[in-house]
Amino acid sequence: MTETIRVEAASRAYDVVVGVGVLDELGERLRGACYADAAFVVTDSHVGPLYLRRTLDALEAAGLRTSSITVPAGERFKRLDTFGSILEAMAAEGLTRDSVVVALGGGVVGDMAGFAAASYMRGIQVVQVPTTLLAMVDSSVGGKTAIDLDAGKNLVGAFLQPSLVVADVETLRSLEDDVFVDGLGEVAKHAVLADQALFDSLLGAPLTRNSDASALVEVVARNVAIKRDVVNADERERGLRQTLNLGHTIGHAVEAASGFSLGHGHCVAIGLCCVTRATESLGWTSPGVAERVERLVAAQGLPTDTDVPHDTIVSFATHDKKRHGDGVSLVVVGDVGRCEIRHVSLREFAHIVELGCGVDA
Ligand SMILES: NC(=O)c1ccc[n+]([C@@H]2O[C@H](COP(=O)([O-])OP(=O)(O)OC[C@H]3O[C@@H](n4cnc5c(N)ncnc54)[C@H](O)[C@@H]3O)[C@@H](O)[C@H]2O)c1
Ligand SMILES: [Zn+2]
Repeated sequence: MTETIRVEAASRAYDVVVGVGVLDELGERLRGACYADAAFVVTDSHVGPLYLRRTLDALEAAGLRTSSITVPAGERFKRLDTFGSILEAMAAEGLTRDSVVVALGGGVVGDMAGFAAASYMRGIQVVQVPTTLLAMVDSSVGGKTAIDLDAGKNLVGAFLQPSLVVADVETLRSLEDDVFVDGLGEVAKHAVLADQALFDSLLGAPLTRNSDASALVEVVARNVAIKRDVVNADERERGLRQTLNLGHTIGHAVEAASGFSLGHGHCVAIGLCCVTRATESLGWTSPGVAERVERLVAAQGLPTDTDVPHDTIVSFATHDKKRHGDGVSLVVVGDVGRCEIRHVSLREFAHIVELGCGVDA
């Protein structure tokens, strides 16, 4: 029950292995994917106690020298000082260009360890071992790495494609429900973007962390393939890759307005529903789609609307770093499986927020 998705990015081709128990095969698989004699594992204080020993054992069984660092868990530690402590530990362990960084954890660890790998000695290899649903379906694939600054999230980073991604869906079982559900925001986004069949199957049988392993493998693998298809077509942030921002313009604004207390996936779900309600009433979206998207989102246990005031959403959204020129680039759902980018003026955007947000709340 292992699925392998091949990602052919311009800078590197690599496998994403999704399966049950594949964590124990990490060493062998890493040997097949990288030139490395030593592996440095970066994990956090929640994931380390659960999976670090197994990870080190798997690496050592394949003859790799290992060392590790466990950083405090949470987005608030995705910062320069934690990043600095990772780099100092890498140097203290004597890592060379023949070493590989293994990121064991959620998106926070993946982003920070990936950026450390991209920076250390001007770039060494990284292997991603995502342990949250969000990291499996989104952040571990595509090569974006980053840390946060006081001025905003993900403001410093680099592009570094991993040499390998190993996603063991059994690790999802230990997630808190809320963290698992948060990852479903990006899953719903992918289904709306590109996959009517996934959309229908999630609507019929919402995914939980207790779903059958085969269902978890299938959904994760399908989501990786969707992201892969977009990233393959467009490795850097242009054109098609922008469609992955579906739901994110309003979503990011709601996230920022909540002081980042509401999970990213919850906010993406809100953004997805709000923008689709608005564009349907503008006639840009086929009739009935907004209601179907809301049903999908609600079925996964995610919110479909927000009570954040309209002007607060507009003001946060128009300070977003993804804004170009005078307006906002918005991903618009034509129908399930069909999206397009529309550039809207600030006035049009404010109107869209009026039409779509705070309707159900
Ligand atoms: N690089 C990208 O393309 C990209 C895309 C989307 C999001 N991100 C980034 O990802 C981050 C969010 O990732 P996340 O939602 O995975 O958050 P996270 O890494 O903070 O993980 C959420 C929580 O779950 C814990 N955890 C992780 N795996 C676990 C497991 N298997 N069992 C028990 N607990 C576990 C973590 O310690 C943490 O407390 C953000 O910083 C975001 O900017 C990056
Ligand atoms: Zn996102």
